[in-house]
Amino acid sequence: MFVPSLWVVSAAIVERGVMEGFIRGLPKVELHLHIEGTLEPEMMFEMAGRNGVTLPFADVDEVRAAYQFSDLQSFLDIYYQGAEVLQTERDFHDLMWAYLSRMAGENLRHAEIFFDPQTHLGRGIGFETFMGGFATAQQNARERLGITTKLIMCFLRHLDGAEAVATIRAAMPFKGAIAAVGLDSGERGNPPERFADAFAMAREAGLRAVAHAGEEGPPAYITGALDVLGAERIDHGVACEQDEALLDRLVASRIPLTMCPLSNVKLRVFDVMEDHNLKRLLDRGVAVTVNSDDPAYFGGYLTDNYLAIQRALDLSRDDLVALARNGIEATFLDDPSKAVLLADLAAYAAG
Ligand code: HPA
Ligand code: ZN
Repeated sequence: MFVPSLWVVSAAIVERGVMEGFIRGLPKVELHLHIEGTLEPEMMFEMAGRNGVTLPFADVDEVRAAYQFSDLQSFLDIYYQGAEVLQTERDFHDLMWAYLSRMAGENLRHAEIFFDPQTHLGRGIGFETFMGGFATAQQNARERLGITTKLIMCFLRHLDGAEAVATIRAAMPFKGAIAAVGLDSGERGNPPERFADAFAMAREAGLRAVAHAGEEGPPAYITGALDVLGAERIDHGVACEQDEALLDRLVASRIPLTMCPLSNVKLRVFDVMEDHNLKRLLDRGVAVTVNSDDPAYFGGYLTDNYLAIQRALDLSRDDLVALARNGIEATFLDDPSKAVLLADLAAYAAG
């Protein structure tokens, strides 16, 4: 039996620490982050207390113990329940500020952040409440942390197309604060085509478009999101590997995939991280990026996602820099802002 010497074990520990430091300091962007998915159990209890909401959990440990998921739907059930504690403008501010101030410690430079208006409108909480809370936190992040942000408004795909149309109509007074629309929630049996009208209205209003596709659903949902919704990025997209023509198209067009490694293992898209297809897609020339999805539920923020995939797939520093660069290039920032971030990344990689 091979027994590693103390020296070999120590060297491995040092190497892990060095890699973690390198990833933590990488100038990073995040493009696939649901703000409702950053609700940590401690904050959930605090908001439940001040808003008079009764939670079906005795304490924070019981909440964490409930985060064992068998698929996307088993997560969504608990995620929508958790979001019910969010009620006031202050709640939405605190949620956004907690995420952004935490991420300053991971050298996050820019984030394009999803929110789910229908989850809140359905409870009688209006756009002015959540948009007001977000805006204050976003401004503070820009001024105090040097982190820029954009908002992406998602339609819930388990609801029908007419409700998405009503949501984009209701969002129009706030469209100046919204960069793009997206599509999330339960994917299976909910193809993108049903949301063609809502996406067309959003694009006519000058908004950009992204969509979750090929997380649990087939590659045809990716093609549909591109062709019918005009999606400029695909969120997840792991299923693209099942369709050679689609793969060729993604490589040629450099349509980015916003991948979320810890999410994919937690929701059993892959049994283990070692099975993840991120590295194969990167090597094939797909514009893959790394993101955290719902970090409070999936066991890690952005640095944790980079680290988990680096360790499982033995990614090199060049791979990590390429992933960070893909992220910057995939943002909806203007070219001068991208150039600043790309120059910072190049300087970091060289140093
Ligand atoms: N997929 C679909 N809907 C979601 C997700 C996700 O990963 N996270 C939050 N809503
Ligand atoms: Zn997501």
